Amino acid sequence: MVIHGVDAFCDLHGEHVPAALVGVLGIEVVLAVPTGAAAALDDVLVVVADDDREVPVLLHAALADGVDRAPSAVAVDGEDTRDYGRGEFARVGEGVPPVLDGRHWHSILVASVKSGGFASGPVAPPERPRAGVVPFNAAAPRGDGMEVTEGAVTVDVPAQSGDSRTDAVFFNPEQELNRDVTVAALRAYREREPRAERYLDAMAASGIRGVRAAADGWAATLVDRDPDAVALCEANLARNGCDGEVRHDDANAVLWDPERVFDVADLDPFGTPAPFLDATFANVRDLVCVTATDTAPLCGAHMQSGVRKYACVPRNTEYHAEMGVRVLLAALARSAARFDVGVAPLLTHATRHYVRTYVDLSHSAGAANETVDALGFVYHCPECLYREHEFGLHAERPDACPNCGGTNVLTAGPIWLGPTHESAFVAAIRGRLTADMGTRERATRLLERVEGELDRPTHYDQHKLYGRWGEPAVGMAAFLDALGDAGFRASRTHYGGTTFETDASVAEIRDVAP
Ligand SMILES: C[S@@+](CC[C@H](N)C(=O)[O-])C[C@H]1O[C@@H](n2cnc3c(N)ncnc32)[C@H](O)[C@@H]1O
Ligand SMILES: [Zn+2]
Repeated sequence: MVIHGVDAFCDLHGEHVPAALVGVLGIEVVLAVPTGAAAALDDVLVVVADDDREVPVLLHAALADGVDRAPSAVAVDGEDTRDYGRGEFARVGEGVPPVLDGRHWHSILVASVKSGGFASGPVAPPERPRAGVVPFNAAAPRGDGMEVTEGAVTVDVPAQSGDSRTDAVFFNPEQELNRDVTVAALRAYREREPRAERYLDAMAASGIRGVRAAADGWAATLVDRDPDAVALCEANLARNGCDGEVRHDDANAVLWDPERVFDVADLDPFGTPAPFLDATFANVRDLVCVTATDTAPLCGAHMQSGVRKYACVPRNTEYHAEMGVRVLLAALARSAARFDVGVAPLLTHATRHYVRTYVDLSHSAGAANETVDALGFVYHCPECLYREHEFGLHAERPDACPNCGGTNVLTAGPIWLGPTHESAFVAAIRGRLTADMGTRERATRLLERVEGELDRPTHYDQHKLYGRWGEPAVGMAAFLDALGDAGFRASRTHYGGTTFETDASVAEIRDVAP
């Protein structure tokens, strides 16, 4: 029996939860289970993982706890449904962890039958709103707010009731790491480019990001098209004794305004930043910071949406988070090049449900040409996980996989094939994290990992390789040592605990792998 789960990111509105499951499983309860927790619901066991690579680990623990049948699972991502089912889990009993196809960015839900089955036939719709499906922007009525302290500031935000979708001003506590890193990046950037003073928080919501920048000495402008957000921004600036301009306007209108120049612009929209890129690169002087939360289009899980938003072909591979990073950077590069602006990524990370990048700008046609030169294609064999990349804007896909002869070689691109960060700058950011930051330790670990990454396309997942080879995986340290001993460069990556980057081909990895 296959039990359906739902990817919390890809299916925010729960539109693709099979109707028969809504009443039975209580998906809203399932998705409210904290990350990493397991919950027993009658005859099902549900595991919600932060990252699909954690699922096998959590599943092992759950199995050890007495689930008596091999589980199977389906992930629903809106445009296609993948049965991770029986094949992947068949060898659990032999101690071989299941290897999930990396089609999902995060929060895959796995269900397992202990005994019996589900009732068949029509199921009544749930009686209450689907809490947890919309995890963060559900807020209590206006006036019923709460205080949040991040870094040196304390702001008011709408209370988060988590049980309904309202039009309250958005606040996501999960983005604290993103904001902490932003503040540190702005500090590091000001040392690199002392003329930078004016910071635009183009989608400010509660204003927490812009207020933090203002408290750090930036001449901050906070913009939102929601009048309630604007009022909250004003109150939060005042509450912290910060100067700053607040505008009730569309971000694009502010960015296109010839009377204004911003040294740094920060885009933090709902979903894709694509509609704001041209105005940003046309007018910003020094640094552009972008958050993109539309990971399904970015990584190719929702391919047509990715094609529409990013004018490239994203492919859903096992390095899906990196695909998202490179698709986003390519879109930034193309937008910038339109205005004779070149971009150099200083830091890019894929964390939880978003990609965040900071790109340094150079205003010259030559720099723009170099930026375009960093675009190209990845050819990927889903059979053996071979991949190669090629710079340029003409794709010349191999007819067959040079490694296994498979003829289903996929083309992704044009995507960004250049560096995704500058290690020295990442180290500088790390050095600007301060003790008042709530996520300092996590941010430090993230930045250390990014800093040490071999920065080339595209990373591998060690567990997925061993899965393809039908062998049990070994420890990462021994694995990387084996590559190093054979003369290859290799590093871990921030994309996941079993991911690594190397200049060895998939065949060479196979040869030297312990
Ligand atoms: C994800 S929230 C921003 C969160 C905020 N930056 C933070 O760190 O908490 C997105 C905000 O963008 C605003 N927004 C959406 N489209 C906009 C536009 N075209 N111009 C200005 N604001 C916009 C929304 O009203 C919302 O408040
Ligand atoms: Zn192949």
